[in-house]
Amino acid sequence: MIDKDGIARPGTPERQILDEIRPEGLPRHIAIIMDGNGRWAKARNLPRIQGHRAGAQAVRTTLETTARLGIEVITLYAFSTENWKRPKLEIRALWALLKEFIDSQLETFKKNNLRFQAIGDLERLDPSVRRYVDRARHVTRDCTGTLVQIALNYSGRHELSRVIRTAVADAAQGLLKPETLDEAWIDRHLDTAGVPDPDLLIRTSGEQRISNFLLWQIAYSEIYFTRVLWPDFGTAEFLEAIRAYQQRDRRFGGLSPDAKPESISPGGSPVQA
Ligand code: FPP
Repeated sequence: MIDKDGIARPGTPERQILDEIRPEGLPRHIAIIMDGNGRWAKARNLPRIQGHRAGAQAVRTTLETTARLGIEVITLYAFSTENWKRPKLEIRALWALLKEFIDSQLETFKKNNLRFQAIGDLERLDPSVRRYVDRARHVTRDCTGTLVQIALNYSGRHELSRVIRTAVADAAQGLLKPETLDEAWIDRHLDTAGVPDPDLLIRTSGEQRISNFLLWQIAYSEIYFTRVLWPDFGTAEFLEAIRAYQQRDRRFGGLSPDAKPESISPGGSPVQA
């Protein structure tokens, strides 16, 4: 059940978009590449970290809407394995912001029945960050609403290389045979094991790249690019992305249910029946 009034008051532009969204066709899993914090800050002559701070506010708004829509899973790309290349000061500020976010949001997570999970190579995180992440996971472990996955020290290639390493180690111990290594085995060994693949991937800021995010899991995701910078990504933009998703024709390599049947001509080319 969508909590419409909780998301947008009647008569607002947000409510107009919301009214066009079909509750039965919502994406189960939404993944977001939150890009543009730096440019948002630069446009205001502010330090980059102020852009990230404004970005953290956009995370709060987005999570609230996600919970009220009843979306099963949301995955946010907060820190990639490549982000270590940034200036030390920015890196330190990003981790401080994550801790502050967890501190300030844990009660809201519980109130909104949100379950917290981190994905990525968490072993390489600073122990103090891991303590926050572990606490958030522990405190929200019984929540049955939206699963919020925050990608930290994450990249798709790195995740797949960890899966391959596990496979090789299992094989060396005789626990895995070549014929049992199939797509389902890989799914079970990803950081996202047990979680449905994203139906919708959103990237903000006008860049049209995947940037090493969920490479395996987005095989059939619908991708939505918007020029809006992440700190400006509000309820209207989020709802617009979902409305656009609902207008897509998802075929998963097959045909639309309303496609006209064809037969093959003797020459091999398809003929409309
Ligand atoms: C990309 O913008 C954004 C990041 C690398 C960090 C994302 C972090 C947040 C949204 C805030 C903290 C997150 C949580 C979950 C509390 P960019 O810096 O690459 O922007 P630019 O391309 O304009 O420079």
